[in-house]
Amino acid sequence: MTSELEEIASSYPAGFVWGAATAAYQIEGAWDADGKGLGIWDEFCLKPGGIERGETGDVACDHYHRWREDVQLMADLGLSGYRFSVSWPRVIPTGTGSLNPSGLDFYDRLVDALLEHGIRPLVTLYHWDLPQALQERGGWTSPDSPEWFAAYADEVVRRLGDRVADWVTVNEPEVVAFAGHSAGVHAPGLKDWRLALRAAHLLLLGHGLAAAVIRSATPHARVGIALNLSPCVPATTSPEDIAGARRADGHLNRWFLDPLHGRGYPADMVELYGELMPEGAVAELATWAGGLDFLGVNYYFRRFVRASDAGPLKFQAVKPDLASFTEMGWEVYPDGLHEILARVHADYGPPALLITENGAAYEDSYDPRDGRIEDVLRRDYLVAHLRSAAAAIRAGIPLLAYFVWSLMDNFEWSYGYSKRFGLYHVDYGTQRRTLKASGDWYRSLIETHSALQPARR
Ligand code: FCB
Repeated sequence: MTSELEEIASSYPAGFVWGAATAAYQIEGAWDADGKGLGIWDEFCLKPGGIERGETGDVACDHYHRWREDVQLMADLGLSGYRFSVSWPRVIPTGTGSLNPSGLDFYDRLVDALLEHGIRPLVTLYHWDLPQALQERGGWTSPDSPEWFAAYADEVVRRLGDRVADWVTVNEPEVVAFAGHSAGVHAPGLKDWRLALRAAHLLLLGHGLAAAVIRSATPHARVGIALNLSPCVPATTSPEDIAGARRADGHLNRWFLDPLHGRGYPADMVELYGELMPEGAVAELATWAGGLDFLGVNYYFRRFVRASDAGPLKFQAVKPDLASFTEMGWEVYPDGLHEILARVHADYGPPALLITENGAAYEDSYDPRDGRIEDVLRRDYLVAHLRSAAAAIRAGIPLLAYFVWSLMDNFEWSYGYSKRFGLYHVDYGTQRRTLKASGDWYRSLIETHSALQPARR
């Protein structure tokens, strides 16, 4: 009888990358160590009411000091890939100008340790921690921001590019732009649609400039971007809700996918945003190529949409009945992963796809007496989503890698430490890491997959 593990593992090709992901601000801590500058999250966390329970990333998982142990945890899982981000203010404390050599040294050592364990690094250049000094000059709404970003990318790539081949420029530009500049729930905490659309535009231009810099420094590099994508489904069959879902799709998915595939901004959304649009943006991207070697997909849940009067988008997300939800309140909808991969493949055909994030927050019951964490729901989430991704591969979609969010519990942005996504549990009092049952299952899957390989040759 074929086990569940064999069934899933055998759907994935040889060479498939099994990974886990993190981001600098969420795990590193050491907020002012060794010459690091202030980032916008250091600042945002100090705002009253910004973060649940007033928590900060000052210490987080103390990964800056425990990286060696953490690489060993990855090796224990058998990971073949690790996605992490570089902290811009750690490398260039004021965003432009002088380098902080010990900042780059940290990532240099980390990359070497990963490679020693046969773990391929996938490096994200921007996972939300802009240097505060640049925010004071307008941040991502400054027309200079793409150049600042490209200059920073150049420093990192010239240092790590001899060993790192795979790069993600920006993580989730939609979240950076809109959670940060129109909803105001992320740093820098602004509430202005015009600024949000301008930031979204400049993030795309920044991606393009950084991609060019990376390729010219290291011709063998592969460059992509990580987008948070979701199928957007009308909550009813009413024409209003169907149109609302189309707007949701335009906002979340097409606004980024279209220009990144050389098609400029989607006309229906340009019309909807109207005078909120940055001047000249449409013309500027009309002939812009995007230039992706791969597309990173961060998938968590689908959007269930009703038309409404709210905001420029005139829709609201609602919760479907009879569904189950993670601790984030996100619907568990595994088929959505296959659906979004199939849609992107059919409509845009990027050369390769990577699942750069997928995972679930649950309240884990930790028993300090035996130290076991039986996180059945997270394990089930991973099983179901890996089955869904396997179906995408069987359908011919060029999916090369899967990164679980996250390697370990960490600072979940505005939710602070209240949401746990890790394969490893982190006791924030002692910094002790403990493998959860879901992590052990993932380890067995990777082991089973590798054991199947010789038989196939
Ligand atoms: C994504 C972020 C990541 C993490 C997960 C849960 O939007 O990229 O840093 O917070 O959500």
